[in-house]
Amino acid sequence: MLNEREIESCYLGQFIPVHYHHNMLMDQNRMHSFKSAIHYAVRPGARVLELGGGTGVLSFFAAQQASRVYCVEYNPDMVREARRFLAINPNGHRVEVIHADAFDYLPPEPVDVVICEMIHVGMLREKQVEVMESFKRRYLARFGGPLPVFLPEAAIMAAQPLEQEYDFEGFHAPIVQFQETGVVYPGTVELAQPAVYSIMDFSQPVDMQIAWEGSMLIEKAGTLNAMRFITKNVLAVVQEQSATIDWLNHYMTLPLANPVRVQAGDLLRVAFHYRAGGSIPSLQASIRAELVNQHQQMAAFA
Ligand SMILES: C[S@@+](CC[C@H](N)C(=O)[O-])C[C@H]1O[C@@H](n2cnc3c(N)ncnc32)[C@H](O)[C@@H]1O
Repeated sequence: MLNEREIESCYLGQFIPVHYHHNMLMDQNRMHSFKSAIHYAVRPGARVLELGGGTGVLSFFAAQQASRVYCVEYNPDMVREARRFLAINPNGHRVEVIHADAFDYLPPEPVDVVICEMIHVGMLREKQVEVMESFKRRYLARFGGPLPVFLPEAAIMAAQPLEQEYDFEGFHAPIVQFQETGVVYPGTVELAQPAVYSIMDFSQPVDMQIAWEGSMLIEKAGTLNAMRFITKNVLAVVQEQSATIDWLNHYMTLPLANPVRVQAGDLLRVAFHYRAGGSIPSLQASIRAELVNQHQQMAAFA
């Protein structure tokens, strides 16, 4: 019998089935960015903790330099798989795979770097923010400061109004969509520039409630019927080069309940709110997008 937390976890997709991990391993954009960031952040001899290890791949990257890696995973199937894979990879013996809940686990000693990839677009569904907040509180209580370096260090989130095609061979279905970044989709028209609505710095306390209200200047005429959500994860800050190693999640596009005709130069007032780790429908239901009338527009630009 599943308890309440487990039921919610299954519903929200917190525990990703084994076959989905293959997709994550195949995602070169994700893999390459994490490999580079871990290579940069983990110094020779470092102690590393990974929360939500899955196949163990990120712990494996860390183990190439670290002296010890604690890899925590809750799904027993993945614990077995990670142990199997690490046993056949170089330096896998430096990784200890621990079957535990990341909300409870603390390593037996202070660590230099914490890797956590429980990331969904907008920090929805998966418990990245909650797990990191819980970890910081418990770590400081047990070991005192300073906190380890977090990987990712930060996340930047933005929203962008779209006209989105929802016809599938004549079947009209306004439905949540995920799109690869860097691909031009003929059915997608960007009506304005993305507006940044949240910047999370994981080294600081992060609020679980995410709420935004702001305006967007429409650049193209069309029917505004969807909002795209963009999440860029700053995996590491490379200070020597004044650069960052980033990973951009797939775009998530949510249909709007009430489409609006817009013209170039219109000002759109947008508001939404959700809880980090919350469901996609909870965000979708909260989105308000309405045109500011001419009079208000003049005042806004004055
Ligand atoms: C998005 S996957 C990432 C897996 C791996 N780190 C990678 O990058 O390929 C997130 C992993 O976190 C695990 N997970 C989710 N919640 C957890 C928790 N509370 N404690 C430990 N592991 C958890 C999931 O089972 C899943 O394997």
